[in-house]
Amino acid sequence: MSTEANPDTTAIEIPDAELFRDAGRLKEKVVIITGAANGIGKETAVKMASYGQVPSVNLEMGIVTHLAKLVIGDRDLPGAEQVVEEIRNAGGKATCIKCDVTVFDHIVALYELAMKTYGGVDVVIPNAGVNEVDRLGDLRFDENGKPKGPQWRTIQINLVGVFNTLHLAQHYLLKNSGDLKAVVLLGSIASWIAIPGAPQYSASKHGVLGLMRSLHPIYEKFGIRIAAIHPFFADTGIIPLPAKIFLTGIPLVPVPRIAGAITYAATNPNPATSGCAYLLTDNGPVFKVPKEEFKLGVYGMIDTRKNALLKAAGGILAFRKIVTSTPVLALLIAGVSWVLYGRYGKQLGF
Ligand SMILES: NC(=O)c1ccc[n+]([C@@H]2O[C@H](COP(=O)([O-])OP(=O)(O)OC[C@H]3O[C@@H](n4cnc5c(N)ncnc54)[C@H](O)[C@@H]3O)[C@@H](O)[C@H]2O)c1
Repeated sequence: MSTEANPDTTAIEIPDAELFRDAGRLKEKVVIITGAANGIGKETAVKMASYGQVPSVNLEMGIVTHLAKLVIGDRDLPGAEQVVEEIRNAGGKATCIKCDVTVFDHIVALYELAMKTYGGVDVVIPNAGVNEVDRLGDLRFDENGKPKGPQWRTIQINLVGVFNTLHLAQHYLLKNSGDLKAVVLLGSIASWIAIPGAPQYSASKHGVLGLMRSLHPIYEKFGIRIAAIHPFFADTGIIPLPAKIFLTGIPLVPVPRIAGAITYAATNPNPATSGCAYLLTDNGPVFKVPKEEFKLGVYGMIDTRKNALLKAAGGILAFRKIVTSTPVLALLIAGVSWVLYGRYGKQLGF
């Protein structure tokens, strides 16, 4: 495994030995995770439910003490029940519910299950996802020969499903008075580079990164940390057989390392790690991309111009401050401005 950070970025390498460093914070905490009947979600659920000394080389568990209480929502109920059984057989705590992330009522039931069973929610991981299900441009026709509209299943599950899950996250996370409130999203390397022939997958994962960046400043005010994990291909059921054959010989990302990155992002006690992206670009280490990286290159150019615009909008921002702090004064200023505008506006050419 390469240990050198990419010299072109200030991304920081996180060695495997550190990925579970703060996992002790999960003790007795409640983790909601979608799509944990299989693959990355399953590995994450099992690891979070039982944490011990983790050798850096193979990320296998050593001495195990049971930590988080897992609440799993997956449309594959038998698979989810198996994971719950595995966790319970090892002495851990877990429960599950059949949940389609595209159905908002199912998400409500998932959070309510967490409240009813364990009395709170500390970590939310909207992990459920699918690959490119419907091909854009593959036209289907109705009985009159008229083209039918596109199907949006990948967008619905990978993006709207995440929105559905997050719509309730803040509400439930703020009910807990504990020291851990975290959201970890599953992006992909397709959040950064487009996968040709997978426009819905690429757009949904770009969307997940945008969602993380948009929510981060809001969550910061409430002490909720958020991050997104971006793996390259890993050997799970999401990869269709032809793609697996195509990828033969290419080193894939080990699933336990992705679970480690999710755990690291969820448990890091440093508030400054909120808003970070974590890249797993191959079978090498996890790279943390600090949010400041989003101010370099083309991001930097946009940031500079945005700041200039905001400076110009200083009057509006100042007024907004007054509105929120002293609404009566704001009303007075608005009234006086309105009268002055009526009296002198035309003469001044407004
Ligand atoms: N495996 C990879 O190469 C890879 C790479 C980057 C990102 N990811 C992301 O990781 C996440 C997990 O994927 P995985 O590789 O473990 O795949 P997986 O197919 O092994 O697991 C996905 C899980 O999501 C569940 N699911 C699918 N649709 C659902 C729905 N509508 N409602 C509820 N559950 C649903 C499935 O039943 C399954 O248990 C996804 O968001 C995926 O996009 C995976």
